[in-house]
Amino acid sequence: MMDERWKIVDRYIESLLVPRDASRDSALKESAAAGLPEIQVSPVQGRFLQLLVAALGVRRILEIGTLGGYSAISMAQRLPDDGRVVTLEADPRHAAIARANIARAGLAGKIEVRIGPALTILPQLAGEGVEPFDLVFLDADRPHTVEYFDWALRLTRPGSVLVVDNVVRQGAVADPENPDASVQGMRRFLDRLARESRAEGVVIQTVGAKGYDGFAFVRVVTPSKAVGRP
Ligand code: SAH
Ligand code: DHB
Ligand code: MG
Repeated sequence: MMDERWKIVDRYIESLLVPRDASRDSALKESAAAGLPEIQVSPVQGRFLQLLVAALGVRRILEIGTLGGYSAISMAQRLPDDGRVVTLEADPRHAAIARANIARAGLAGKIEVRIGPALTILPQLAGEGVEPFDLVFLDADRPHTVEYFDWALRLTRPGSVLVVDNVVRQGAVADPENPDASVQGMRRFLDRLARESRAEGVVIQTVGAKGYDGFAFVRVVTPSKAVGRP
């Protein structure tokens, strides 16, 4: 089966090109031991996020959907000393595991886990007038992706990059009749992206350890409303 080949190739790429790291390994181990769903980015995808942080010179990262902190830790490992991740998590149990994993990785000073529904916390961040984020990783519940996209535009600057996970879902995204709320959520997001004058983006399909999926890569082009203003 193709899926088996995708996994074998992913393992091959990982063994060659993803440096082993005790912090990331133990975050995976502890998250699994705590019974968290094993839906974090794959090691190869985590490596891609790290390279993005390094290549773009990212200093401030916003993540929506922390889970056990694997992707947050991966990205934070490549931040400069004054770099920060703010990561949002609705499930207090996930957040607690993430905080433990982050502390064990020595990254508690760099990664702030905020607990609550993202649609509650995002307006708070805007109200606090936080510095714009350079990179936003959207990886939470898919039905709300359009709303997260709107907030991400308000919390970034021209040149910032947004990465949206789980856009393709085995090709389901191309089926307008698919009744699944996640699929419809992603289609609404892509419709908006297509018409959005403040950003440009595309979707890259992927295969690998997590099957057939894909991510959107978006570049913010024009200033949104200033952070902290209505
Ligand atoms: N980015 C993580 C995986 C995130 S999985 C990694 O790769 O390591 C998706 C997470 O989003 C789950 O932990 C889930 O509890 C959280 N989530 C779901 N709905 C949410 C919401 N409305 N607000 C914030 N987090 C949410
Ligand atoms: C699921 C969620 C994810 O963020 C992901 O990358 C893979 C699967 C899920 O909810 O099934
Ligand atoms: Mg995901």
